[in-house]
Amino acid sequence: MNPDQPTHQQQHPATDAQADPPARLPGPLQDIDSTVSEQASRRWWDQDADDYHDEHGEFLGAARPGGEFRWCPEGLTEAEAGLLGPVEGRTVLEVGCGSAPCARWLTAHGAHVIGLDLSREMLRHGLRAIAGDDSPTPLIQATAEALPFANDSFDIAFSSFGAIPFVADSARVMAEVARVLRPGGRWVFSINHPMRWMFPDDPGPAGLTVSIPYFSRTPYRETDDDGHVTYVEHHRTIGDRVREIGAAGLILDDIVEPEWPDGFTETWGQWSPLRGSYFPGTAIFCSHKPG
Ligand SMILES: C[S@@+](CC[C@H](N)C(=O)[O-])C[C@H]1O[C@@H](n2cnc3c(N)ncnc32)[C@H](O)[C@@H]1O
Repeated sequence: MNPDQPTHQQQHPATDAQADPPARLPGPLQDIDSTVSEQASRRWWDQDADDYHDEHGEFLGAARPGGEFRWCPEGLTEAEAGLLGPVEGRTVLEVGCGSAPCARWLTAHGAHVIGLDLSREMLRHGLRAIAGDDSPTPLIQATAEALPFANDSFDIAFSSFGAIPFVADSARVMAEVARVLRPGGRWVFSINHPMRWMFPDDPGPAGLTVSIPYFSRTPYRETDDDGHVTYVEHHRTIGDRVREIGAAGLILDDIVEPEWPDGFTETWGQWSPLRGSYFPGTAIFCSHKPG
């Protein structure tokens, strides 16, 4: 959930909806690989951590004792949705936890949780909040593409808009999660709904007009004056996501598309009541490891 992101059609090819349809674009481009993506994301989220929490901390429950668990800007909570199943006594990994309000909420509900994130500054916000909790939640700085845990370590893994949109090799994340899950364990992650890729990141009417090919996996990037990548998001279609989950040996159980709640007026970046009244903004993939 990046609130500060400018309209993302600016650096995509073939964005003029009035022009001829764009030529079919190639598959994932390799110019923004895992290393470049990690460097950009670490720097971006370190620099943005304070602003992110100023703007969204209250909604996320980031400083609230015992945290809060929201799956998406539509506000859906784990208390309502129960997508993780029973959590008391379970070992849980949060991937891309940021300041870990979700992990802390699970700790408060009796789970044994570890939060993992790439950004030291996002984690630092979490450490401050954890100091006010009854039970601590361990946090670790690492990348989702190489989880520093033994095989079969967790009953549940999840991510709420953490890591997956930002990694170059999300298939590798799926494989890593499958490796550290115990047989029967769940893996649930929320991301921007893939169909949102087609539209500019604008909460208003401009965000209702298709301008980017759904099938373009060319990453969205922002660069500085020297051409260094400073922000990146990677797109996968719904089918890509389903295949990555299957290739990791996981079973897909559901894709939850939270609807915009009646009367809910909170806008988060490109997520708004207007757009939410027409199409989904979030997809939550629910899967499990056989066994
Ligand atoms: C939109 S924030 C979401 C954080 C938290 N789940 C929340 O709802 O506030 C995305 C998070 O993903 C983390 N992230 C990005 N790339 C990552 C990677 N390769 N490995 C682990 N975390 C990553 C960022 O540092 C950031 O904290």
